[in-house]
Amino acid sequence: MSEYHGRWSNRFTYILAATGAAVGLGNIWKFPYIMGENGGGAFVLVYLACIALIGVPVMMAEVMIGKYGRLAPSKSVIKLARDSGRSSAWRVTGWGGVIAGFLILSFYVVIAGWAVAYTWYGFTGSFTGRSADEIGQLFSNLNASPYPLLGWSGVIVLGTSIVVGKGVQKGLEKAVNYMMPILFVLLTIMVLYAANTGEFAQAVRFMFEPDFSKLSWNGVLIALGHSFFTLSLASGIMIMYGAYLPEGTSLVKTSVYIALMDTLVALMAGLAIFPVVFANGLPAGAGPGLIFQSLPIAFGQMPLGSLFGGSFFLMVVVAAFTSSIALIESSVAWLVEHRGLLRWQAAALAGFAIWLVSLLTVFSLTGAEWSVVSLWGDIKMSYFDLLDYITANIMLPLGGLIISVFTAWAVKEEISRKMLDTEPALYLLWQTCLRYIAPVAIMLVFLNLIGVLDL
Ligand code: PHE
Repeated sequence: MSEYHGRWSNRFTYILAATGAAVGLGNIWKFPYIMGENGGGAFVLVYLACIALIGVPVMMAEVMIGKYGRLAPSKSVIKLARDSGRSSAWRVTGWGGVIAGFLILSFYVVIAGWAVAYTWYGFTGSFTGRSADEIGQLFSNLNASPYPLLGWSGVIVLGTSIVVGKGVQKGLEKAVNYMMPILFVLLTIMVLYAANTGEFAQAVRFMFEPDFSKLSWNGVLIALGHSFFTLSLASGIMIMYGAYLPEGTSLVKTSVYIALMDTLVALMAGLAIFPVVFANGLPAGAGPGLIFQSLPIAFGQMPLGSLFGGSFFLMVVVAAFTSSIALIESSVAWLVEHRGLLRWQAAALAGFAIWLVSLLTVFSLTGAEWSVVSLWGDIKMSYFDLLDYITANIMLPLGGLIISVFTAWAVKEEISRKMLDTEPALYLLWQTCLRYIAPVAIMLVFLNLIGVLDL
C-alpha cells in the first residue's frame, strides 16, 4: 500500500500528522461541553484514567496493526491474523472503522462549519459589544435555516477532499506542518487571557475537584467513548497512519507523546473556556453550543476582541480540518484499494457522499421535524445526537474491545513483542491493559448501562 499512497517522510512529520488527527473538535468543542454536562472533576478523572489505561494501549495496538500490514485497515488486520494462524474474520474491525469514520465525519463537518462561520463573525467584528443574549441569538440565527450551514460545512468538505486528493506527501504533510504550531500558540494566548480576566480559580475547581455524586453511568460511558473519539481510535485512522510509519520509529514512544499532546490541548481548552463561562454566569451544561455561546461574549469585551475572536475560531477550524483529513482517509484508501479508483476520484466521491449524509445533521440543527427519531419507549433523539451517540459511545468502544482482544489474545506474542520493540516490563503493562483492563472496563460499562448489572 505504501506503494500506492507513499510514506511519511520522517518521524517528526508522522507525529505532527497523527497529533493533527487526534487534536480536533473533540478537544476544543466536545470535551468542554461534555465535561460541563457531566459535572466536571469526576468526569475529567475517569476520562484521564480511560486515556492512560485503555486509549494509549489501544493506540499502540492500532499503529502496530498498520505498521505490520502496511495496508488499509481490514487488509492489515487480515495479514496479521493469518500470520498469527487466526481467522480472517477479525477484519470486522477494519470495516467497522471505515464506517465509524465515515459517520463521524458526516456531523464533524457541520460543527467545523459552525467554526468557519464564527471565524468570519469574529474577524468582521460581529461579537463587539454584544450582550450575552445577542450572542445567543447569533448562534440560533446560524441554525435557523439549512442553507448557510450547508455552505459553511461545504467549505470544509471541499477543502478536505482537495488536500486528501493530492496524496499523502504533497497534501497532508504541507497542511499539517503549518497548522499545528499555530494552533498551540493561539490556545496558549487564550488560556493566559482567561487566567487574567475570567473566574480562573472557579474553573480550576470545577475541572479538578472530583465530585462523584455528579457522575452517572452514562457519564462514565461518555468519558470512555470520548477517550476513543479524541485519540481517533477504532476508526481505522491510527491503523492507516501506522501503515505509513517510517521504519525504525518507536510506536510506543510516539503513541504516548501523541496522547499527552492531545490531553494537554483538551485541558487547555477547558481552562480557556470555563473561566469565561463562569465569569458571565452561563450554564456549564449548555450542550454542543457551549463554546459558540460563551466565548464570543468575552471576545466582544476584550481589547482587540475581533482579532482574538477571529483567530480563536480559525484555530478551531484548523484543528477540525487536520482531523477531517484523517477521518476521510480510511474511506479514500478503501476506495483506492478495493475499487481501483484514482486517489482524486476516491476523494471526490467520499467527499460528496459525506456531504450528502451531513444533511441529516444540518436538518437536526435547524430543528426539522422529520430529523427527530423515536427510539424505544419515549426516548427521542435527533439524527445528530443519534449519530454522535452511536459512533462515539457504541461503535468506538466496541471497536476498541475487539482490537484489544485481537492484538493481546489472538496475535502471536512473538509478533507483537517484535513490533512494539520495547522493554519487557512495558510490554507486559501494554498486554495487561489490553488483555484485562480494557475488555473488562468496556464490558462493565456496557452491561451496566443496558441494565444487566446494577452497580
Ligand atoms: N480525534 C478527533 C477529534 O478529537 C476526531 C476523530 C475521531 C478523528 C475519530 C478521527 C477518528 O476531534
